[in-house]
Amino acid sequence: MTAPARGPVAVRLVQVSDAVQLVDALTASRDHLADAFPGGWSERLDIEVQRSRIARALERTVEGTSWPGVITSASGELLGRIALDGIVRDNRLSCFLSYWLREDACGYGYATTAVQFVLDVAFDQLGLHRVEAFVRPANAASLAALSRAAFERVGVARRHTFVGSDWQDEILLQRLAPWDAPGRLLRPR
Ligand SMILES: CC(C)(COP(=O)(O)OP(=O)(O)OC[C@H]1O[C@@H](n2cnc3c(N)ncnc32)[C@H](O)[C@@H]1OP(=O)(O)O)[C@@H](O)C(=O)NCCC(=O)NCCS
Repeated sequence: MTAPARGPVAVRLVQVSDAVQLVDALTASRDHLADAFPGGWSERLDIEVQRSRIARALERTVEGTSWPGVITSASGELLGRIALDGIVRDNRLSCFLSYWLREDACGYGYATTAVQFVLDVAFDQLGLHRVEAFVRPANAASLAALSRAAFERVGVARRHTFVGSDWQDEILLQRLAPWDAPGRLLRPR
């Protein structure tokens, strides 16, 4: 795997055919992603498991509960993943954001670009009102990317995620839709 050329990045829906590149990217960045994915690596690096996970994620897209994306270079090389999950509608219109980059794709602003792209998907295309993200307090790179995208800190979700041998705190951040206004439930048309 060669280092990606610095340049524009794109974000699109994941495809089942991305499974091979996805496993390659995860394999090359396993140490870098160890805190984000503390367990489950034998399944994560299995191409057939990834194919079925992607197929299931795309079913959730049709159901309206997920928007599973990939971050690619301009030439289509897979640099990472980004997703909106847990989409709920009714009177909440919210979802959770998650993302990661290959280690050799970090430090170029690609996550910042990708986060802005999926915020546009969330607020303009899906008509959502709120995007949430949970970040470990030590994850300065992720907190910086969310801060550049104007996420605000909500507070600490105590003992939110089980890592290693205990529950760990995470910071909950949110970004409201640009069209948020008193008394307005839906995005104006
Ligand atoms: C979180 C993660 C995606 C952030 O990656 P990143 O490359 O630091 O973030 P960005 O793509 O926004 O790039 C920011 C860096 O690019 C630089 N940069 C260059 N051009 C830039 C631009 N146009 N815009 C923004 N930043 C730019 C910034 O100065 C910054 O570098 P620095 O860290 O040396 O200050 C990455 O660290 C990662 O994959 N971590 C493991 C998985 C993870 O933690 N996921 C998040 C779980 S909540």
